[in-house]
Formats: sequence, C-alpha cells, structure tokens
Amino acid sequence: MHEVNRVVAGLFGRVAATYDQAGFLQQIAQRLVAHAGVRSGMRVLDVACGTGAALLEATRRAGPDGLAVGVDLAEPMAAQAARRLQALGPAAAPAAVAVMDAERPGLRPASFDVVLVASAVYLLGEPAAALRGLWALLRPGGRLAVSDFADLDPRWAWKDELLRRLAPPLEPLGGGRLRAGGLERLLRSTGAGQVTIAVEQLDVAYADAPAWWAEQWTHGERWALEHMDDWAVEAYQAAAFAAIEACREADGAIHWRPSVVYAVADG
Ligand SMILES: C[S@@+](CC[C@H](N)C(=O)[O-])C[C@H]1O[C@@H](n2cnc3c(N)ncnc32)[C@H](O)[C@@H]1O
Repeated sequence: MHEVNRVVAGLFGRVAATYDQAGFLQQIAQRLVAHAGVRSGMRVLDVACGTGAALLEATRRAGPDGLAVGVDLAEPMAAQAARRLQALGPAAAPAAVAVMDAERPGLRPASFDVVLVASAVYLLGEPAAALRGLWALLRPGGRLAVSDFADLDPRWAWKDELLRRLAPPLEPLGGGRLRAGGLERLLRSTGAGQVTIAVEQLDVAYADAPAWWAEQWTHGERWALEHMDDWAVEAYQAAAFAAIEACREADGAIHWRPSVVYAVADG
C-alpha cells in the first residue's frame, strides 16, 4: 500500500468509532449531495465515503429505482457506513459499501450519474490523476461533485500557528487544502465542460473549550495530536483554551465559522 494510504487508513481506522460526533462533517456531506442534485433513479458513487454521511443522504434521495455505492480505504469507516445503511427503510436506494482506494477504483467505467468526494480530496496523493480516474466512471452527462474547506475562519488563525509550532508537518496526510480556486482548476483538469463553484459559511458552535478539545480527537486532526510529545499536547491545549475565548459570541457559545467550497463539474 502507498505510504499516504497506509497513514490515512490507520488514522481513520482509529477515529471511526467517534467520527460521527463531528456534526459539521455530516453537514458538509449533506450539502454536497444537495449541490450535486442527486434525485430519484440516479446511480451514485460516494468516494472516500467514511461513515456514510453523503452516502446515506444520496441513498435516500436516489430512492428504490436508484443505486448507491460507497468506497473507502479504511475498513472500520466502511463498516460503520454499512451498518448505517442497514437502518434505512425500503424507500432508500439499494446500496453497497466496499473497501477500495479512490486512486485505483476497480469499478466499471461510465456506470454512475454522480460521483461525490466529500471532505477527502486533500487526502489523495495525486488528486488530479485521481479525479480524472473518477471522471471516467461517469456516464455521459454525469456529474462530479467535490467539497473542501475554503477558509478556516480568521479568528481561529492561532490554531494553525500553534500546530505549525508544536506538531510535526502534516504532509504524510496528502496534499493540503485547495481552497476555491485550486478546486476549480483541479476539476477543470478532468476535461469537464463546466465547473460551478459555491462557497458557504458553516456555523459550528461549542458550549465550551473542553467540548472543542474533545472533538479534535474524533476526526483527521487527531493525527497531529497523536504525533506530539505530551508536553506539546499540554502546551497546545493551554494556549488554545486561552485563545478560544475570543471566539465566544453573544449567545455564550464558542463559534467556528469556516467556509466550505462545493465544486460541481459537468460533462
Ligand atoms: C474526512 S473523512 C470524510 C468522510 C466522508 N466523505 C464525510 O464527508 O464524512 C476522509 C475519508 O477519506 C478516506 N480516504 C482517504 N484517502 C482515500 C483513498 N485514497 N481512497 C479511499 N478513501 C480514502 C478516509 O479513510 C476517510 O474515511
């Protein structure tokens, strides 16, 4: 297995049991399905499906005449998605989940109406080649829809600064955030005729600093925490708890308001 994939599969294997606690990732995935215009009867592939946030929404929308397939590198994430699919009733599309590398998908070309990649493109070793491969899985007239963070909320700049100072570089986890321009260029490089970009702001609220801290261990950021010395984790937590107070708003909660880019490519 490629080194990036080994690191990624291990990390997401460790967070699978708690991943759904980060509600903002579920929200982004559901918005991506809406931007992709998934509707009844469609055949949908959710690439890097994780615990199934986009997959479940697509399965509901595609309905019994459609089809939904989710693939992920981390078996515990895929297993969690499969469990969640089982709870859907007969109004949902037939669906399946497989452990598969998005960069080498063993799927028949031209077999999907929509391919989704929610909050995962930054983890791919070679995103341009990967998206070209995914583009080939679309039927004529099909649609590729990808989400990524555009801006992480300038009030939280201290977080990146602290991590830069205290954590090892994040390169083993892939190529880094693309922002709106980078994502648009990436989708154009697939040969898509038209790329539509939408940027939306999220509002993530935490009751207090410990609630934010607990969430940091439930998704990909856990990697940085796991690779810091104990003293560095303690220094990060103490500095973050002091800085985070500047993000407390009139309702008494701490708010993180990042913006997310949804890019939709049509043939
Ligand atoms: C941040 S999670 C996003 C999961 C899901 N799409 C969502 O929106 O909740 C990233 C996921 O990408 C998966 N992933 C990363 N690289 C992958 C690859 N090359 N092939 C398949 N899955 C991959 C990880 O295992 C993880 O489940």
